[in-house]
Amino acid sequence: MGKAIIGACAVILVAMVVAVAVGVTRSRSGRSEGELEASKKAVKTICQPTHYKEECEKSLAGSNTTDPKELIKAGLQAAIHEIEKVVNNSDTIQDAAKDQRSRYALDDCKELMGYSINDLKKSLNQLSSSGVSRLDVYIENLRIWMGGSITFQQTCLYGFENASTEAGEKMRKLLNTSQMLTSNGLNMVSIIPELIRDSQRFHL
Ligand SMILES: *[C@@H]1O[C@H](CO)[C@@H](O)[C@H](O)[C@H]1NC(C)=O
Ligand SMILES: *[C@@H]1O[C@H](CO)[C@@H](O)[C@H](O)[C@H]1NC(C)=O
Ligand SMILES: *[C@@H]1O[C@H](CO)[C@@H](O)[C@H](O)[C@H]1NC(C)=O
Ligand SMILES: *[C@@H]1O[C@H](CO)[C@@H](O)[C@H](O)[C@H]1NC(C)=O
Repeated sequence: MGKAIIGACAVILVAMVVAVAVGVTRSRSGRSEGELEASKKAVKTICQPTHYKEECEKSLAGSNTTDPKELIKAGLQAAIHEIEKVVNNSDTIQDAAKDQRSRYALDDCKELMGYSINDLKKSLNQLSSSGVSRLDVYIENLRIWMGGSITFQQTCLYGFENASTEAGEKMRKLLNTSQMLTSNGLNMVSIIPELIRDSQRFHL
C-alpha cells in the first residue's frame, strides 16, 4: 500500500520534472533555449566588428544558425533586400525631382543600385561556393565587392549635389538602412581570419 503510493508519487514527480523541462527548453518558435542562446551568441560575435551593431543584430535576429558564414550571408541578403526596397520606392521621390539635375540623378541612381546589388551578389556567390584556396584572395574579393557596393550607393547621393530640390534628402533617407547594412557586411569580413584561426568554424 505504502509502496504503491510512493510509486505513484514518483511517477507524478517524474512527469512534472519532464513537463517543466520541456516547458523551459522549448521556446514558442520550436527552437530550444540552448539553440536560441547559441544563435544569439553567434550573432553578437559576427556583429562585434560592425559600426552599426544595433542594425546588425536586428538584421540577423531571425536567423536560425550559429554558422558565421551563413550569418554573413544573411546580413548581405538583408542589405540586398533594403536596396531593392529603395529601387521600388524611388518612384515616391519622382515628384520631388522637379529640376533637371535631380531627374538625371534619380535615373542614375536606379542604374547604380543595380550595380550595388550585383556586387553584393558576387560576394554571396563566393561565400556560397567552395574551392577558393587562398584566404588573402578570398578576403580581398569580398572587400572589393562590398566596398564597390557602398561606393555605388554613395555615388547615387553625390548626383544630387547642387540640385535645388529636396529629392536628394529623400534619397538619403531611403538609402540609410542599406548603407548601414552594407557597411556592416564589409566590417564582418575583417573577422573571418580570426574565425578560421581560432575555431576552424569558417571554411573557404
Ligand atoms: C532551426 O534549425 C534547426 C537545425 O538546423 C532545425 O531543426 C529547426 O527546425 C530550425 N528552427 C526554425 C524555427 O527554423
Ligand atoms: C520590389 O518590386 C518587385 C517587383 O514588383 C518585387 O518582386 C519585389 O519583391 C520588391 N522587393 C522589395 C524588397 O520590396
Ligand atoms: C557642386 O558645386 C560645387 C561648387 O560649385 C562644385 O565644386 C561641385 O563639383 C558641384 N557638384 C556637382 C555634382 O556638380
Ligand atoms: C542613418 O541614420 C542614422 C540616424 O539619423 C544615423 O545615425 C546614421 O549615421 C545614418 N547612416 C548612414 C549610413 O548615413
